[in-house]
Amino acid sequence: MRAWQDIDPVEEIPLLGGDVTVGVVRVGDTVRRPLGPHSPLVHALLRHLAQVEFDGAPRLLGVDERGREVLTYVEGEVAGRPRPGWIADEERLRSVARLLRRYDDAAVGFTPPPGSVPDAPAVDHPAVRAAALDEPELVGHVDVTPENVVFRDGAAVALIDFDLARPATRLDEVVNALTHWAPLAAPGDRDPLLSDVDVPRRCRLFADAYGLADDARGRLVDVAVLRSRKSWHVMRHRAEADGGGWARMWADGVGDVIRRREAWLVEHGPTITAALLDRSAAL
Ligand SMILES: Nc1ncnc2c1ncn2[C@@H]1O[C@H](COP(=O)(O)OP(=O)(O)O)[C@@H](O)[C@H]1O
Ligand SMILES: [Mg+2]
Repeated sequence: MRAWQDIDPVEEIPLLGGDVTVGVVRVGDTVRRPLGPHSPLVHALLRHLAQVEFDGAPRLLGVDERGREVLTYVEGEVAGRPRPGWIADEERLRSVARLLRRYDDAAVGFTPPPGSVPDAPAVDHPAVRAAALDEPELVGHVDVTPENVVFRDGAAVALIDFDLARPATRLDEVVNALTHWAPLAAPGDRDPLLSDVDVPRRCRLFADAYGLADDARGRLVDVAVLRSRKSWHVMRHRAEADGGGWARMWADGVGDVIRRREAWLVEHGPTITAALLDRSAAL
């Protein structure tokens, strides 16, 4: 890959919204982001996506003179905070599911380069092992937060921020996206615009638009609970080991949010599963 040289010094505009990465900037029609140990994996993935002509991800242009990755800037709107009024919109929800399905289909043929590693800490705990029972099907995005989806004309057009990409199942992908977009969270922990939405219905809309298989639907709640337990341990580990934004999120109580999610999922799991599997229900 060539080294990226700016001909003229161009203004750097900080891009905020993410919780973790320091120093994400826009320069003209490019984005610059710091490299990390996971970058070889992410770069190979982005090159694969370009090769199979998947249009829902930024293109990797190279590495700049300051050692940052250079990506194309994807025009459109990204939900920040406070959340925009459309965050609960069902058509947008469906479009996120369709985009994720297209991404997963495009990622299936990708094989990580030998020696490349994801940004996924090895946390040795029974709860972490319990969440990793299924054989991975693809390298998933698994960070489909509102901040990481670009919309145009009311529909999701691109995923950004592939830093957490790692081997995953399709069900992992759907559970991750639903965590943020259904959302799978206790009502008191949701954005006010989402506190009264019909979560089981939104799970069903998402699963239908994704085309999630029946067996995966039947296991979705169990997997969501296992993932929730795992993420409590991973988040605590990252807060201690990595500090920065991870420590900030932990100090702000994300661990308690995760625990409340788990309790809410256990209580409402049967309703969610029924909505996912009820073929007679018209939506
Ligand atoms: N390629 C891109 N195109 C358009 N916007 C981007 C792009 N990359 C980042 N952004 C914007 O910058 C924000 C933070 O960047 P992101 O890559 O998600 O970093 P973080 O790891 O901090 O979440 C995003 O939420 C989005 O608004
Ligand atoms: Mg992000």
